Amino acid sequence: MIQQSRANPKRWPTRWLLALAALSFNILMSCATGPNETPLGQFISVPGATIIDNADCAACHDEQATSLVSTRHGKKNDPRTPAGTDLCQSCHGPGSVHAKNREDGKEGLNDIIRFSKGTSFPAAQLSQQCLSCHEKMTKQRFHTTGHAAQDVTCANCHSVHSPKGEPQLKLASEVETCAQCHKDIRAQIERPSHHPIREGKISCSNCHDPHGSGYDKNLRKSNVNDTCYQCHQEKRGPMLHEHPPVFENCANCHTPHGSNNSRLLVSDPPKLCQMCHVGSGHFAGVYDKATTLEGGGSPFRLSAVGARSVDRGCIDCHTRIHGSNHPSGRFFNR
Ligand code: HEC
Ligand code: HEC
Ligand code: HEC
Ligand code: HEC
Ligand code: HEC
Ligand code: HEC
Ligand code: HEC
Ligand code: HEC
Ligand code: HEC
Ligand code: HEC
Repeated sequence: MIQQSRANPKRWPTRWLLALAALSFNILMSCATGPNETPLGQFISVPGATIIDNADCAACHDEQATSLVSTRHGKKNDPRTPAGTDLCQSCHGPGSVHAKNREDGKEGLNDIIRFSKGTSFPAAQLSQQCLSCHEKMTKQRFHTTGHAAQDVTCANCHSVHSPKGEPQLKLASEVETCAQCHKDIRAQIERPSHHPIREGKISCSNCHDPHGSGYDKNLRKSNVNDTCYQCHQEKRGPMLHEHPPVFENCANCHTPHGSNNSRLLVSDPPKLCQMCHVGSGHFAGVYDKATTLEGGGSPFRLSAVGARSVDRGCIDCHTRIHGSNHPSGRFFNR
């Protein structure tokens, strides 16, 4: 939901008075609390600045004015949008000081709210300019995310004037947008076993909400398993015979982004199983010559010679590793 209050011009004078008060308050407070402590719901503006005719902005910034028209923000008939309210100054704040400075040939970094690199405005306040309309993201607690804590702003992922992807993403795809910073994850999805992210079948935001979810790692669901069940419903159970690590956390055995082992496994069997099963009734160590009949090792109940030494080892017999509904599936063999 988009907050509507900006659409009502009568509210502006109070708004900017409040904004001014907020800014001075913030400057006073910033020494004591740091810039990220800006209370929610406050807007920033440059001291002394008032709203001017947006045509003045366009006269000097034709490119930005033109680019805006074709975007959602440029829909004049929609009173919730910048174009339906204060256009440029909905985001950049009142521009009289900046315009006057430039007309007088003066420079200055702080005379208009700028989102681009080198801005002197604190990240939390820049995001606040967008959140003032995008209230939904406030409800999602954007300000509590690891992103907000590390000064990532809306404009790190979205571009207002030159978006390359949908929805108004800074780069052509979501993965590329995230990979600006998460190069390690980008590398993981290139591994032999990976979720089909680069194939475009699923995306980061299927599992994570970049705007905040209130859950660990901004997962869409309250825990890893519920996140996985969104698409792997059949693993949910309940099962007659449950394998405890499965219902505890899929990440006991799988890594979500990509793996050099098969099937997104954190390691291949038998090592995978041996992380937990060391003292099982049949040998659970490394299968070498000494532990097979062929190699003169002690005989096993299980007849196949060296059967457990073949590649897939354990899961050749324990095929229902996620649990079994078979009455005699206690050992996940059926
Ligand atoms: C008389 C011409 C003029 C007018 C009028 C003017 N600007 Fe500017 N503006 C400039 C120039 C020149 C620069 C580049 C120098 C600089 O970065 O300060 C600039 C810089 C900016 C920047 C910072 C760019 C960055 O790199 O981050 C923003 C944002 C901006 N203007 C927005 C506006 C808005 C909004 C308005 C209307 C309220 C406006 N300007 C009116 C000339 C103007
Ligand atoms: C919805 C918020 C929003 C509106 C409306 C908006 N801007 Fe911007 N502006 C931004 C953001 C965010 C950036 C940082 C670069 C980007 O995202 O494209 C920016 C960057 C700029 C820059 C720096 C150059 C650049 O492209 O990086 C200028 C100049 C500028 N805006 C002027 C304007 C003018 C003039 C208008 C009105 C026609 C306007 N802006 C309307 C959010 C906005
Ligand atoms: C004056 C209110 C207002 C401000 C300020 C504003 N937006 Fe928006 N924004 C809107 C509205 C309205 C829509 C259209 C929503 C819809 O159609 O449901 C929109 C849509 C979007 C979309 C979705 C575009 C799409 O194609 O689906 C993105 C992304 C976005 N805004 C990002 C931003 C960012 C980033 C900022 C701050 C730099 C910002 N907005 C500031 C009102 C605003
Ligand atoms: C870490 C990157 C990232 C950041 C930071 C980010 N976004 Fe987004 N945003 C996305 C991605 C990816 C999508 C598309 C997937 C989705 O909807 O979750 C999106 C979708 C949107 C949409 C359209 C869909 C919707 O939920 O309405 C809007 C509007 C939006 N973002 C606004 C914002 C605003 C405002 C901020 C800052 C408070 C922000 N975003 C910060 C990545 C980001
Ligand atoms: C501008 C850099 C930047 C971009 C772009 C970015 N991130 Fe992040 N991301 C960070 C930083 C910094 C952290 C915090 C790391 C920390 O606290 O250790 C983070 C943390 C995370 C976390 C861990 C959860 C948390 O709250 O700490 C997830 C999940 C995440 N990002 C997903 C994404 C996704 C998905 C995208 C793309 C839609 C994205 N990020 C884009 C910088 C970025
Ligand atoms: C299939 C679901 C899924 C997809 C798709 C996904 N992630 Fe994750 N991601 C997770 C889970 C689950 C965790 C937490 C793992 C844990 O806690 O053991 C995680 C953790 C993270 C973290 C925290 C650091 C870390 O390595 O644990 C970051 C950052 C992250 N993901 C970014 C991304 C980015 C960027 C993308 C898209 C390229 C993406 N994720 C796609 C499920 C997913
Ligand atoms: C948005 C949907 C979605 C979510 C959420 C999801 N997956 Fe997947 N998963 C897929 C798709 C699609 C495939 C590929 C299936 C195919 O190729 O047949 C897949 C494949 C897999 C594979 C097999 C990989 C291989 O190399 O064959 C494993 C293991 C897996 N997912 C585990 C998980 C785990 C663990 C989670 C939770 C962290 C999860 N998935 C969340 C969609 C999802
Ligand atoms: C005890 C370790 C373990 C846990 C925990 C685990 N898995 Fe698996 N998973 C495996 C193994 C081993 C394979 C490979 C099976 C094969 O290749 O026959 C596998 C394969 C898969 C596959 C691909 C083949 C298939 O069965 O569809 C998916 C999808 C999958 N797991 C999802 C999940 C989900 C979702 C969870 C959490 C609910 C989970 N796994 C928990 C060990 C585990
Ligand atoms: C994260 C730890 C963990 C991993 C990894 C793991 N298991 Fe288990 N497994 C358990 C626990 C805990 C039990 C329940 C033990 C009990 O009930 O005594 C169990 C039970 C079993 C049982 C049934 C035993 C019984 O006595 O009922 C079999 C068979 C089994 N696991 C096989 C495997 C195989 C094969 C793998 C590798 C693909 C594997 N496990 C990986 C923790 C794990
Ligand atoms: C050739 C088939 C086969 C292979 C390979 C195999 N198992 Fe078993 N496993 C069984 C059978 C059958 C049982 C049922 C109990 C029994 O007869 O000993 C069993 C029982 C178990 C049990 C539960 C009883 C106990 O002894 O604690 C665990 C745990 C177990 N296997 C783990 C593993 C692990 C770990 C591997 C790989 C290192 C593995 N198994 C490889 C067939 C096999």
